[in-house]
Amino acid sequence: MSRILTGIQSSGKPHLGNILGAILPAIQMSAQSGNESFLFIADLHSLTTIKDPAVLQENTRAVAAAWLACGLDTSRVTFYRQSQVAAYHTELTWYLSCLTPYPMLANAHSFKDKSDRLADVNAGLFTYPVLMAADIILYDAHYVPVGKDQKQHLEMTRDMAEAFNRAYGETFVVPEGVIDERIMVIPGIDGQKMSKSYGNYIDIFQPEKELQKVVKKVISDSTPLEAPKDPTNDVTFKLYSLIAPAADVETMRQNYLAGGYGYGHAKQALFEALKTRFAKERELFDYYYHQNPAALEQKLQEGEEKARAIAAQKMNEVRGKLRF
Ligand code: ADP
Ligand code: TRP
Repeated sequence: MSRILTGIQSSGKPHLGNILGAILPAIQMSAQSGNESFLFIADLHSLTTIKDPAVLQENTRAVAAAWLACGLDTSRVTFYRQSQVAAYHTELTWYLSCLTPYPMLANAHSFKDKSDRLADVNAGLFTYPVLMAADIILYDAHYVPVGKDQKQHLEMTRDMAEAFNRAYGETFVVPEGVIDERIMVIPGIDGQKMSKSYGNYIDIFQPEKELQKVVKKVISDSTPLEAPKDPTNDVTFKLYSLIAPAADVETMRQNYLAGGYGYGHAKQALFEALKTRFAKERELFDYYYHQNPAALEQKLQEGEEKARAIAAQKMNEVRGKLRF
């Protein structure tokens, strides 16, 4: 049996792009395979950029609630916060740091990119890949699904696992990255890639009135209501086709081509489709995030207990090798 593990930054409430592009495919994968899955919130990593504890905590809660709302089954997936297993993750980080050549970290693309972009260039940003390697090999993960931007971090992880095995004897599984090359880019309300940083996202978990207001802002051209419209490049139509049943999408396509159907109508249909498609998710998010935060906390603590037991055992083995 293989172990699949991945980490998610606690960067805020996930939006429609995150849900369709990352969360739902990952949940589908964990439901299909007979493998053991680990999914954790990388809140220690987020500390490299977020300093306010209240913000970090809220982000973590929102991310956790969104994954549970989207159907993550905690009886099949070990689901935890990295910070709650921090002793093991950070201890292993130190051992790996002492085996990692300085230039390897200095050459990391993501560090170079961040150090050009961010005002706060802290040591945590620099050693970020070592903590990430520890996150992975601590659980002897075989496969690590990540985005293309994490490819180099996975290569570094393999190097660190191999370096430890060479220095102290076979200890860690050398993991493989599973890089998703499919480019499924969900457009935001302005037609660019939907992203937190562009402020063009649709938050499917917000109250109906606000959701409707955002959907009304989806960009459209000035073709008059009576005139036929081209569905191919229209953002409302694109979003609708991602979430509505195929027959309804076809009906909207015909309406566009026939004319007499305005963008206002299409946006109302999109709003209704979002409510229908995500009814269960909206309800569950509300339950975990607003109504019953204790239930969310409990789910996480159960996962953390399982994660800690596995990590503790591995670290015993590691300390043995180090004669500590
Ligand atoms: P954001 O751009 O909103 O900050 P992140 O970079 O935190 O999003 O991405 C988290 C996950 O969601 C990644 O796996 C990323 O590939 C996916 N994702 C983000 N935006 C989109 C989008 N517009 N379409 C598809 N997937 C996306
Ligand atoms: N660095 C990853 C990202 O920014 C998050 C992450 C931290 C991670 N630790 C991990 C991903 C371990 C996979 C495995 O997306």
